[in-house]
Amino acid sequence: MKPLLLTNALIINEDLRYPADILIDKGRIQKIASLIPSRTEWQVIDVRGKWVIPGMIDDQVHFREPGLTHKGTIASESAAAVMGGITSFMEMPNVTPPTTTLQALREKFQRASHSSLANYSFYFGATNDNLDELKALTASQACGVKVFMGASTGNMLVDDEQILESIFANAPCLVATHCEHTPTIKHNEETWRARLGDAIPAGEHAAIRSVDACLTSSHQAVSLAKKHRTRLHVLHITTADELALFDAAPTLEALRQKTITTEACVHHLFFNYDDYEMLGHKLKCNPSVKSSFHQEALWRGVNEGIIDVIATDHAPHLLEEKQNDYFAAPSGLPLVQHALPALLDMSSRGIFTPEMVVRKTSHAVAERFQLKDRGYIREGYWADLVVIDPFSHQQIIREDVAYKCGWSPFEGRILSGGAVDMTLVNGHVIWNGRTIQQKYGLPLEFCR
Ligand code: DOR
Repeated sequence: MKPLLLTNALIINEDLRYPADILIDKGRIQKIASLIPSRTEWQVIDVRGKWVIPGMIDDQVHFREPGLTHKGTIASESAAAVMGGITSFMEMPNVTPPTTTLQALREKFQRASHSSLANYSFYFGATNDNLDELKALTASQACGVKVFMGASTGNMLVDDEQILESIFANAPCLVATHCEHTPTIKHNEETWRARLGDAIPAGEHAAIRSVDACLTSSHQAVSLAKKHRTRLHVLHITTADELALFDAAPTLEALRQKTITTEACVHHLFFNYDDYEMLGHKLKCNPSVKSSFHQEALWRGVNEGIIDVIATDHAPHLLEEKQNDYFAAPSGLPLVQHALPALLDMSSRGIFTPEMVVRKTSHAVAERFQLKDRGYIREGYWADLVVIDPFSHQQIIREDVAYKCGWSPFEGRILSGGAVDMTLVNGHVIWNGRTIQQKYGLPLEFCR
């Protein structure tokens, strides 16, 4: 492959914004300078007027392979991710069979090596009965250990207290938790069923999957992590109440010192309770989307550094399934294609700066997961780059949706603040705004 020169970029990286040219060769950034004289044998792309940012590294996706490929595949969802400016992803274990053995984990990496257009890693799933496998896992074999401390899609609840202690004591790498207290939720479900039968309005999900359920479970995870000095990452925080459990890291340096970190997801930041009226069960997800009070607390949490990372929890389900009644409609929504544009839309409304979006979607994820040579625009790093047209806005229509499930919660909306013009993964232009190039990503490597 020829060296590629991006000229006249406006780089947004490490809280700075500056004009520069970027020379890419052998997949990596060779040089960043204010003027790099081009050579005839190089490919040159002039990106004048555009931002160049490090690709989003999404630390929470469900791509449904193996076993649930009618909802999505690594190939289909990674293509959608790249179209949305996501250059690396970390994928969850609640597939069929679940990724709860080292063999299943190896098989997923194998699949991704010939189907994923983005760089990839996979979580090992902890269960009530796979402690021996967990103990055999090495620190760099998986991005993390996923623990469903609350039941969600798939049958992976870990609710045995002794086992939880052992997982937190023995995990060789970061433990990522889904925190919702299942007994509280079950109790709420029965209360609502007694009152309303199966005809429960979608918005009641916010009260059934309640603030208390989140707080109780997150509190338990934090207590366990403090006791065992576990590197804990609490996924998809949704409540103001949980924020009090965590420390603020206003800088990346402070983030590096943290043992316990948090993540918020795009849908919990973008939508609130009022959106159930229009979206119905399309907005049903676990943990639930809650009121604007909690949404605004999450915005503050991001800006103050209590929330360290922004991810998607991309979780495709079929529209037919979403049309079922409350108890039968599955939880989760597809997000990777429009997550970064949605965050830029929020930045155009003054909620986060674009620099903050870059920090939370790329730098902080690389730091937290100890990624090797990714997450920043730096010489020597992999060229995972996204070219954004900051003046472009995008109307989301179903015909443009790339997910296998074929729908998006953003349909009908106009997202302002910047659209993805081009995505480079390992120095290759995989998405040029019109077509996708079939070139496979690499497994993420860790400095652990
Ligand atoms: O809403 C959700 N959907 N939350 C999860 O924890 C799982 C996910 C899925 O896999 O569908």
